[in-house]
Amino acid sequence: MSILVFGSLNMDLVTRTHRLPQAGETIAGYSFETLPGGKGANQAVAVARLGVPVQMRGRVGGDEFGKMLIESLQLAGVNCEGIAIDQTTSSGVAAIAIDDLGENHIIIVAGANGKVDLSDVDRLPLQANKVLLLQLEIPMAIVLAAAQAAQQAGTIVILDPAPAPTQLPAELYAAVDILTPNQVEAEQLTGIAVPDQASAIQAARQLRQRGIGTVVIKMGAQGALCATAAEEFWVSPFAVRAIDTVAAGDAFNGGLAAALAEGRSLSEACRWAAAAGALATTVKGAQSAMPTRAELIRLIS
Ligand code: RIB
Repeated sequence: MSILVFGSLNMDLVTRTHRLPQAGETIAGYSFETLPGGKGANQAVAVARLGVPVQMRGRVGGDEFGKMLIESLQLAGVNCEGIAIDQTTSSGVAAIAIDDLGENHIIIVAGANGKVDLSDVDRLPLQANKVLLLQLEIPMAIVLAAAQAAQQAGTIVILDPAPAPTQLPAELYAAVDILTPNQVEAEQLTGIAVPDQASAIQAARQLRQRGIGTVVIKMGAQGALCATAAEEFWVSPFAVRAIDTVAAGDAFNGGLAAALAEGRSLSEACRWAAAAGALATTVKGAQSAMPTRAELIRLIS
């Protein structure tokens, strides 16, 4: 069974600098690269690298970046037949600054991602896919419509609430099977600061009370918390040397979806997710950092 990703494609304009600038400050960087990214496209590549069939849906602009974004996905083995080219606008871009500790700042300009509409939802091949991966770099109303359509079709809906929203529509909680915030997103959504296990459990319970069946909070170097109606368990972190955290969350969601699509248990899927996320931090870039199946299996075993 394959996986469908409906979301953003961005060209990442990546600068590297020894430290991130403060407001109003100009500093010198030491490198610049143009790399394919976007949370949706990154998650599609994460799934493809793990050897699970995956289709990407979304929009790029009628520009050179749009062509490069589609080519990058095709090279990774992602089915791109349904990606629309919107000649009226430019492709999405993300201006990214990364410091020596691997921390990043990202500013996104939506471009074609912001033009995704209900006609794209109507064309989603939901029956043919076991899992739908969503993020929040396309309009919220469209994310909601896609989640509701997938729910009707019996497709598992995994929502990565990133970039961090201050709130989600109440109906969206009811249409999503698995919500995967990181610590910042969990705090934005609940008002509960999430520095440790106890606060993560509190935040996950609050999110579950809003109607989500399963909440998985990505805790970075602390691992992850998984909370369902039946159980709450902690997913141990994998010890790696992190050099670039960009798209680690996308790798996590790709790993989670790939394992679930293969029929693995939720706890095993969470381990796959944590391993994929950890491995992604050991390589520079977004799509280029997604681990292969062999790398993931090696780390897990
Ligand atoms: O999650 C990382 C991604 O966020 C980057 O590739 C960038 O495009 C932004 O969407």
